[in-house]
Amino acid sequence: MSKKVRRYEASTGYRGSEDYIVSDDLRNSVNIAIALQKPLLIKGEPGTGKTMLAQSIADSLDKELIIWNIKSTTKAQEGLYVYDTVQRLYDSQFGEGDVANIKKYIKLGKLGEAFITSEPVVLLIDEIDKADLEFPNDLLWELDQMSFYIPETKETIGAVHRPIVVITSNAEKELPDAFLRRCIFHYIEFPDPEGMERIIKVHHPNLEKRLLEQAMETFYMLRNVPNIQKKPSTSELIDWLQALVVGGISPNRIKQDLPFLGVLLKKNEDLDTLLNQLHGKTQSRSPNYASSSLNRYRY
Ligand SMILES: Nc1ncnc2c1ncn2[C@@H]1O[C@H](COP(=O)(O)OP(=O)(O)OP(=O)(O)O)[C@@H](O)[C@H]1O
Ligand SMILES: [Mg+2]
Repeated sequence: MSKKVRRYEASTGYRGSEDYIVSDDLRNSVNIAIALQKPLLIKGEPGTGKTMLAQSIADSLDKELIIWNIKSTTKAQEGLYVYDTVQRLYDSQFGEGDVANIKKYIKLGKLGEAFITSEPVVLLIDEIDKADLEFPNDLLWELDQMSFYIPETKETIGAVHRPIVVITSNAEKELPDAFLRRCIFHYIEFPDPEGMERIIKVHHPNLEKRLLEQAMETFYMLRNVPNIQKKPSTSELIDWLQALVVGGISPNRIKQDLPFLGVLLKKNEDLDTLLNQLHGKTQSRSPNYASSSLNRYRY
């Protein structure tokens, strides 16, 4: 399929969606990837909206979203097609159906599905770095050419419409250079407090102003504690705010008591680090500051 590059008009294309706040840079990256018809590779801390971006693109452009969740055992071939030899053998033994018709036993994978849809779709290849290193290399040809050959049926499956491909990675493994060369790359920066407030408003539109202020200050304070291994992320802040509301916590108590801290910090080591940090400070300030409530959340 020939690759016609469309002009990218800033006024059209992807513009974010009601439930997803997008920065100008990210919006531009999405639109450039669409215009150049290249996969968009998204990296960023856990919980920074990588997966949700694909949903937002699909919603905003009114396209179907096909999700291919990658696991450590996923092979590239599964995304193209699977030939169900076991079923064919079973049918041949028990005389069911027409076993000569091999097509019947070819099941397209997510990439194959995205190629044959009558309308262009968004294809999310989620957490590509979970698979082994060969995985991205094995997909280079198919993602470039948007087609693949099925030897069993002597058929070529080519994309009717090139899907918009979004690939996410948590950078657990480095991706091969040849793969990176073919993608448009975007790193989602962790939102600053202003950006975070906009995201929070999407999820908690009616939050009390002071509760939000106190929670945000505490959240960024925790993220800045030196040596925290697993910094709390956007999704954890969203959950924490929910917990504070459900728990009826008054804004004045947030900084002092650090309620429901287990929603934000998930590692014992990080609770220890925070405790040490607070003890250092509390000796010169208030002796009860947070440490008693913190102890409640240790295992
Ligand atoms: N820009 C944003 N606008 C609205 N909600 C957001 C945004 N970023 C993150 N969120 C919210 O944070 C949560 C986590 O988002 P998501 O699952 O997409 O993150 P992720 O980067 O894919 O995380 P992981 O690396 O753990 O898979 C979701 O509930 C999502 O709604
Ligand atoms: Mg994700």
